[in-house]
Amino acid sequence: MAVTTKDLATFFKKKGFIYPSSDIYGGVAGLYDYGHLGTKLKKNLEELWRKFFLGLDDNFFEIETANIMHENVFKASGHLENFTDPVAISESGHFERADHLLERALGKRFEGLTPKEMMDLIEKNKIKCPVSGTKIVDVKTVNMMFPVQLGVGTKNTGYLRPETAQSPYVNFKLQYELQRRKLPMGLALIGRAYRNEISPRNLTLRQREFTQAELQIFFDPSKITEHPDFDEIKAEKLNVLLVGDRDKVKTFQKMTTEALIKKDLPKFYVYYLAKIQQFYLKTLGIPEEKFRLYQLDDKEKAFYNKYHFDLEIELNEHGFTEIGGLHYRTDHDLSGHQRISGEKMEIHDEESGKKFIPHVLEISMGVDRLTYALLDLAYDGEAERGNIVLNLSPKLAPFLCAVFPLVKNKPEVVAKAREVYNLLKGGYSCFYDDSGSVGRRYARADEIGTSYCITVDFESLDDGCVTLRDLKTTKQERVKISELKNRLFGYYFA
Ligand code: GLY
Repeated sequence: MAVTTKDLATFFKKKGFIYPSSDIYGGVAGLYDYGHLGTKLKKNLEELWRKFFLGLDDNFFEIETANIMHENVFKASGHLENFTDPVAISESGHFERADHLLERALGKRFEGLTPKEMMDLIEKNKIKCPVSGTKIVDVKTVNMMFPVQLGVGTKNTGYLRPETAQSPYVNFKLQYELQRRKLPMGLALIGRAYRNEISPRNLTLRQREFTQAELQIFFDPSKITEHPDFDEIKAEKLNVLLVGDRDKVKTFQKMTTEALIKKDLPKFYVYYLAKIQQFYLKTLGIPEEKFRLYQLDDKEKAFYNKYHFDLEIELNEHGFTEIGGLHYRTDHDLSGHQRISGEKMEIHDEESGKKFIPHVLEISMGVDRLTYALLDLAYDGEAERGNIVLNLSPKLAPFLCAVFPLVKNKPEVVAKAREVYNLLKGGYSCFYDDSGSVGRRYARADEIGTSYCITVDFESLDDGCVTLRDLKTTKQERVKISELKNRLFGYYFA
């Protein structure tokens, strides 16, 4: 039986991955905390993201910025006017996301319709409020940003940023100078974003405060039809669902980069689509058939995008779910900031001699959504060995290894196990467990996705070897203590 969000919520809390925030006060909808294991997993994921995406170009760097931003940032970006969600209001006064209400009732997506179009559909299909069962009386749009009063007794309003992206945009001009006036230039940011969701739900899949990992690539728009490293990904086949194929293709089709270019997608864009797929499939190990690049149509696209693909992963309960996106935002944001701030965003490109406002390609990822997806895919509640197994890869697992003394009442065995633990713990995430039977310890380690368990026994005292057990296969082998570090290093980088 496929695991549900409810099962996962229980498991996550029991083990210390994720649980409701302010829990002792009953929690707050849409806010979650990460426990000791969830935090380790999430940090590992963020580190993999950093290594992969910052590694794509020597001129890509990470910045860290304030979460509260000036009101004018969002005038310029269009969020004050356009960052809205449609809300359906019932006779009982309950508020519900109108597009989600339609989606649940009619079984397909309804993004990008006007409030009137949604209201008409609700009436036509006699859709009622899912909470009170009463009639829906109105659909209107509401802004999703959180205003913040800055200072006491002032009228200065700031906003909690609804996306990390605006920080790199307002820092662009300064960073362009600091990064020696070179394009393409990348500014990455892993940080918090805030959205006053009408109906937060499904654990960390739709929250009011969440972590984004986003890379903003500033480039010369006249070079959008090229990428210097294109040959490296040229032979890749991408899992794509194009707008025009939705009725013909069930989940996705494999398309060559050449075929995508023929569909009028520029090389610069296709290069990053391929790189994103590599990250999800190769670096994270998402099963091939559970990942797709889903093209959005003109009505569905975010208001700032010219090209927009969502990156989706198929989850047990929710089917293909948006985890991130590749957004060609043109000069929408920089031009907006130039207009409102009066600060020139135009650059004088020394290489071409041209003056222009750079365009932006954005690689966006919801870190909490992806963490959820990784746990959802890794969770095996029906493993033959009789306990829950979390099949996380060694790169992501909260602990790469655990060290067990076979018994805890033999000082020589304990001393040897401690020696092995001390040897490993400096370089690898590792824990020591001497409580209960070894079988129980294996089960506890399996449940939190520990890649390798190392048991020190009586023989270890004579032969200098330990038993190394693999999470996925449960296979055990004897390994020399002197070789352990290298073996684990090799597994980690496999
Ligand atoms: N920055 C893009 C997004 O928030 O989806």
